[in-house]
Amino acid sequence: MSFDLVLFGGTGDLTWRKLMPALFQAFRHGKLPDGGRILAVARDERSDAEYRAYIRERFADVDEAKQPNDAEFARFAELLHYRRMDLSQPEHYAGLKQWLDERAADTVVLFLATSPHLFPAIVEQLGRAGLNGPHVRVVLEKPLGHDLASAQQINRVVAAAFREEQALRIDHYLGKPAVQNLMALRFGNALFEPLWRRESIASIQITLAESIGVGTRGDFYDRTGALRDMIQNHALQLLTMIAMEPPPANQADAIRDEKLKVLKSLKPFTRDNVSRDVVRGQYKAGTVDGKPVPGYLEESKVPSGSRTETFVALRTEVQNWRWAGVPFYLRTGKRLAARDAQIVVDFRPVPHPIFAGTTRANQLVIKLQPEDGLELHLLAAKGSNTGEMLSPVFLDLDFDKAFASERVGGYERLLLDAIAGRLNLFVRSDEQEQAWRWVEPILDAWNEDNIGPRAYAAGSWGPPAASALIARDGCAWSEEQ
Ligand code: BG6
Repeated sequence: MSFDLVLFGGTGDLTWRKLMPALFQAFRHGKLPDGGRILAVARDERSDAEYRAYIRERFADVDEAKQPNDAEFARFAELLHYRRMDLSQPEHYAGLKQWLDERAADTVVLFLATSPHLFPAIVEQLGRAGLNGPHVRVVLEKPLGHDLASAQQINRVVAAAFREEQALRIDHYLGKPAVQNLMALRFGNALFEPLWRRESIASIQITLAESIGVGTRGDFYDRTGALRDMIQNHALQLLTMIAMEPPPANQADAIRDEKLKVLKSLKPFTRDNVSRDVVRGQYKAGTVDGKPVPGYLEESKVPSGSRTETFVALRTEVQNWRWAGVPFYLRTGKRLAARDAQIVVDFRPVPHPIFAGTTRANQLVIKLQPEDGLELHLLAAKGSNTGEMLSPVFLDLDFDKAFASERVGGYERLLLDAIAGRLNLFVRSDEQEQAWRWVEPILDAWNEDNIGPRAYAAGSWGPPAASALIARDGCAWSEEQ
């Protein structure tokens, strides 16, 4: 199968930091289909050779394990082409179409790695230039909008030029191997399904913690905040995968239909319950990994007095028969104590304890990163004496170790899927809009409240109010248990 992959924003951050390393890995692993061309487009004039040299240089800034040696890069570089485009000029799209038509590849993937405010204009021009035939797919990177209305506006423009199955919305968390494993855990094994419900599960917590700050992205981040940056998309996508009903098939729309039902079942936020069920925070100076780091307000490009949240913890429920009454806790933040993304499923305690001492309820920990694996926490008897107390033990599955050579990074997986037309791991427009519908009352309530985000020290686990939020139900975050 021949393909042409066009990267709009071909000299930008996303391209050289994430997409090129991922494409190179796919190439190195022999997974990139033969007969492919990768065309970078951007504003300035460069030859193919100059672009290849630019990318070669940029590779020095990515993970060492992902850097090509000279011979590998020489072979990879043969796929790379460059074209100057002014994205406001219709004739430049006509020129691109001609370049693509000359070869007539089986598949054309147009990846918009530009600033999202350009998406509507680019998509309109693609439609007008006829760059939307049935063999064309367009890939859109988040953030897609900053609220429901703007997301709907982008979706309307996209729908005018492309059919839904031609528009691939990326949530790079869905490309992570651990997240695909969630599907395998739930629907490839019979063991957990009978327990995967309110009768056996007491609560579920999803943590997406980062130890990094906002770095050089202060201006973008300040307009965005943690709720839009991580909860509306990554955390909610994880929640849908945990809570969804078994889909009738491992097929894109079958899965998306079930995910959408979960989003529609989420307990709605109202002005009254936001202050009770949502905690927002902003980091102050502190210590991370033994080094002093500045507070959010001291970061470059962050306006003084900003009230943007860098931390969110919230409590919600999935209001259906399977999950009624089970709290789902979501939490994310920058400059927290560790980089740690995990889902913790707390099971109910035994109904009638017969062993002396404290009995800990069983727990399943789904580790997304930095490790990728599963821990099942149980109680066991050591067998050392008759009156002994039970001891905690756990089964530990390390997927990085088990499947080391076959592991594929998130972007690599999503790019290969985009080229092959596998849509399972892309987000449908109605899911994305429903997620905005659900978070919007939180944004509205914050706009009206004068308290602003609560302070937390960089290197901590967020404001104490986040612990109080979960303690109210008699639960605790995993690091506090
Ligand atoms: C991005 C956010 O979507 O996800 C970033 O915009 C965040 O702020 C990143 O750092 C986290 O991704 P990962 O894969 O490093 O967990």
